Amino acid sequence: MKLGEIHAAEARLLLSTYDRSPILFVGGEGVHIIDEKGDRYLDLLSGIGVNALGYNHPAIVETIARQSRALIHTSNLYYHEGQAELAMRLTERTGLDRAFFTNSGTEAWEGAMKLARAYAGLKRSQGVQIGAKFLALEQSFHGRTFGAMSTTYKAKYREPFGPVVPGVEFMRFNDVADLRAKFSSEVCAILVEAIQGEGGVRPLTQEFFDEARTLASSTGALLIVDEIQSGMGRTGKWCAYQHYGIQPDVTTLAKPLAGGLPLGAVLCTEEVARVMHAGMHGTTFGGGPLACAVGVAVIDTIEKDGLLAHATEVGSYFQDRLRELAARHETIVDVRGKGLMLAAELDSADLAKLTVAEMLKRRILINCTSDTVLRFLPPYILERAHVDTAIAALDEIFTEHAAAHNTSAGGHHHG
Ligand SMILES: Cc1ncc(COP(=O)(O)O)c(C=O)c1O
Repeated sequence: MKLGEIHAAEARLLLSTYDRSPILFVGGEGVHIIDEKGDRYLDLLSGIGVNALGYNHPAIVETIARQSRALIHTSNLYYHEGQAELAMRLTERTGLDRAFFTNSGTEAWEGAMKLARAYAGLKRSQGVQIGAKFLALEQSFHGRTFGAMSTTYKAKYREPFGPVVPGVEFMRFNDVADLRAKFSSEVCAILVEAIQGEGGVRPLTQEFFDEARTLASSTGALLIVDEIQSGMGRTGKWCAYQHYGIQPDVTTLAKPLAGGLPLGAVLCTEEVARVMHAGMHGTTFGGGPLACAVGVAVIDTIEKDGLLAHATEVGSYFQDRLRELAARHETIVDVRGKGLMLAAELDSADLAKLTVAEMLKRRILINCTSDTVLRFLPPYILERAHVDTAIAALDEIFTEHAAAHNTSAGGHHHG
């Protein structure tokens, strides 16, 4: 089928949940994704933070070929070789003790929420005074299933599906006083993203993160950190919380975990893990042999190729270049992020939307989140030359826009 036919068929056959750009992708190589005409696009979004090793990476392709010939699926009733291998690597790198594998980010987050409720129940049975309430953050995004949606801030994600899961309260972002005011022994877990992704690439402050850790520890509540977007090396460390020296009780991973195959994980401490017993939780597909084998290959490749250091180095170059751009274009009001999780916030939602479209015309993929925030989540194999291409395109777009609107393109510096 050609793009036009696919468009018509989807319009007739699928739920209209996605507002797709009219491009048909058929392949990819390195940091480029290729459409049906053979045109190559520089992908600075990598499937929304998934394709960490880019496209057609030999380690992934070969692992899929080898493992798919051996065994694609068994079930969680039996052993296969992949889960222990992957759990060993993840526990070592996150500082946590045990793992449960899922198929997606939202399912990992559900697992984390269930751990928190069950753990609080265990504590209560031991006479500890602890409630079942979750404290989540404004602008948070944790997924689309019921628990995850209920802890996701924006009303548009929750309201059509109400009533949501009860017992969730939202705190103002990075507001320590609000955290202190809302925290009590009623709380079973504090839920945060170390760097909010969909919320606009917003890092927690050290003070807020420290206080969340201290308060949670003071009552036996859990600190649960969602690293689905920020984890697995994107920020230059395995988890973004490691930049803060914080150790959570539970964390969640997904997106790049299996280099493009669906795989998520909940990781927790030994103390929290003791609440789970056979039959309490499970999944048919989660942690299958194919996805786990690729997960192992992704981690080993990130290490063998030094991609954490590379993401730090190219990420800081990218951020510097964005700051230079901000000094020349007053429409850029903020530049932020860590490693290869970066954003440039504009002063206009219309311009942000236009910029994404103009970048697409120049065959560069980025997206816009939280209305005004241009987001960059490129593959970890990105090179400085790719950054230069993107910066030149952005420069041109903002310059043309300023000229068309007869406003000054320069002179204003945003520290
Ligand atoms: C921080 C965070 N948590 C959870 C999710 C949900 O993951 P999934 O779309 O795999 O269910 C996302 C997805 O964007 C995310 O960014």
